[in-house]
Amino acid sequence: MAIKKIAVLTTGGDAPGMNAAIRAVVRCGIHKGLEVVGVSRGWWGLINEEVRILDRHFVSGIINQGGTVLKTARCPEFTNKENQKRGFETVKKNAIDGLVVIGGNGSFTAAHKFCTKYNIPCIGIAASIDNDVNGIDITIGADTAINTALAAIDNIRDTATSMERIFVVEVMGRESGYIALQVALAGGCEDVIIPEKKFELETACHEIVEGNLRGKASWIIVVAEGAGSAEDIARQITEMTSLETRAVVLGHVQRGGRPTSASRTMALNLGKEAVDHLLKGESDKTVGYTGGKIVSVSFAEAIKKKDLEVKKLYNLIKILT
Ligand code: F6P
Repeated sequence: MAIKKIAVLTTGGDAPGMNAAIRAVVRCGIHKGLEVVGVSRGWWGLINEEVRILDRHFVSGIINQGGTVLKTARCPEFTNKENQKRGFETVKKNAIDGLVVIGGNGSFTAAHKFCTKYNIPCIGIAASIDNDVNGIDITIGADTAINTALAAIDNIRDTATSMERIFVVEVMGRESGYIALQVALAGGCEDVIIPEKKFELETACHEIVEGNLRGKASWIIVVAEGAGSAEDIARQITEMTSLETRAVVLGHVQRGGRPTSASRTMALNLGKEAVDHLLKGESDKTVGYTGGKIVSVSFAEAIKKKDLEVKKLYNLIKILT
């Protein structure tokens, strides 16, 4: 089937660089003679036929903006068969020949089911601050989020050192410890608590007390949100060590902001690649960067649990403490 019209949508949590990817899909699509439409609010927009034509002008001035101009949403309702059927009707009614889905692990799980069930050509663009797409080294937005969290940790370090305190800093990652591991390493933090690894608070407290006796008075422990609450952990540390401990929750600041050059250039190249993949008749896979090169990975592979090389990174963090 010849591809004449494509639709682009962003789903799941937004990631800085999604706008740059939309820009590339629209402009590269038009360059290839395609009509490009945007679906608002991810799968919700497909269910409710929120579709509009995107021209070159629509994507001007967004390359440097975080978030997504198409808007995005969590949409567990798209697992419902009736809603999937409504999504398919939107595709047919609007004569959409191919879909570009910009998102992460959850988005690709839905995309895989939808495109195989209704035989709709569909290509993903790996974008998520959690970097949770298997087979892809780094997703759009992850570099930006890490740098945002790192800037905050550097600030916390200043006050932690000056006031000789312990800090527990909670970063994003309900199911993934990626951001926590990266910022703990790059921020020179003393410990990290992530969903992928069992953590012994007693051992950590013992290390803190020993360090304190040696004259090491400040300590930063990074915790991924899926592995515990900074408030609880800080309170327990104070109880166990009698040392003053503060909790900081970085929260959604990590998801917004200007995309770094790495997130943008990745998004622009992948936007073009997604269009090319659809034109070549490819489907049911995502494009992304691995080993510094663009690769494509089947959705089935991309949604498997990603190996973060936790042991290696954790050991390095502890060696460098
Ligand atoms: O988009 C990924 C992510 O930011 C995770 O790191 C976090 O656990 C989750 O989304 C939070 O989602 P929401 O904003 O929907 O609560």
